[in-house]
Amino acid sequence: MSDHTPAPPTGVDPHTPSAARLYDFYLGGKDNYAADRDAGTELLERIPELHSTAHANRYFLRRVVRYLAAEAGVRQFLDIGSGLPTQDNVHQVAQRHAPGARVAYVDNDPIVPAHARALLAGDPATTAVAEADLRDPAGILDHPEIRRMIDFTRPVAVLMIAVLHFLTDDDHPYEVVAALRDGLCPGSYIAVSHLENETSPERVAFMEQVYARSSATLQGRSHAEIRRFFTGLEAVEPGVVPISEWRRDPDKPYWPPEQAWGDGGLGRLTPPTPKS
Ligand SMILES: C[S@@+](CC[C@H](N)C(=O)[O-])C[C@H]1O[C@@H](n2cnc3c(N)ncnc32)[C@H](O)[C@@H]1O
Repeated sequence: MSDHTPAPPTGVDPHTPSAARLYDFYLGGKDNYAADRDAGTELLERIPELHSTAHANRYFLRRVVRYLAAEAGVRQFLDIGSGLPTQDNVHQVAQRHAPGARVAYVDNDPIVPAHARALLAGDPATTAVAEADLRDPAGILDHPEIRRMIDFTRPVAVLMIAVLHFLTDDDHPYEVVAALRDGLCPGSYIAVSHLENETSPERVAFMEQVYARSSATLQGRSHAEIRRFFTGLEAVEPGVVPISEWRRDPDKPYWPPEQAWGDGGLGRLTPPTPKS
């Protein structure tokens, strides 16, 4: 998209940087406006690790989805904070390993559903797109388009990849994750990746300042705070670790944790233990 393209989709403000479009800019995408490129350039000049962090995060997402589809037998995915379509979107990775896998994409930025409907939902029988806000987990679980795609009485993988850091403590992110978890059946999974602020606290604080001018506030968290999102879940090996280290592919690009500032993991809901 260039600034000479037709008017932006309804509800999209091209003058305020958006989290979805900034991330697209870090990944080298074209779905961004001048305001995003200005803020993104300011960030990348001071923090070149944002580039490697974004790419490492996409590789983490691919590995998680591949594990879920190929090894864990999951056939339904709810991708919250899905971002703008890019290479290897969730349905493409999942369906490569599990043809017919169903994916519901959710984002609160109106530009994402606008693009996703055009580019992702080629097969309405297996993909759905909804504009909804993670801060309203009941609204997500009850959303008609999501319920058309996802049967919550069967195992589902909820992906919250690089999105929970857009919920500040005032948004009660732990309660949000718990509400989603309580809406899932045993055998379901929750995957999270999250910006960590221990490797470079000053530069994450700078990011928080720049994002304060965007459509989404940002809050980095410590390793321990990120681990807390997995409360009530059984961690899949190797647990909650730097995103680059989670089931690393030896033949794929790799950035060490100092260049990829995120922790991630995958947790499984286990059935309640019967009382003896
Ligand atoms: C950094 S991108 C991550 C995209 C994708 N999950 C990935 O990891 O490659 C974060 C996305 O979360 C979305 N987002 C931010 N706050 C959100 C909220 N409260 N509810 C739903 N989506 C949100 C943004 O619009 C953006 O598309």
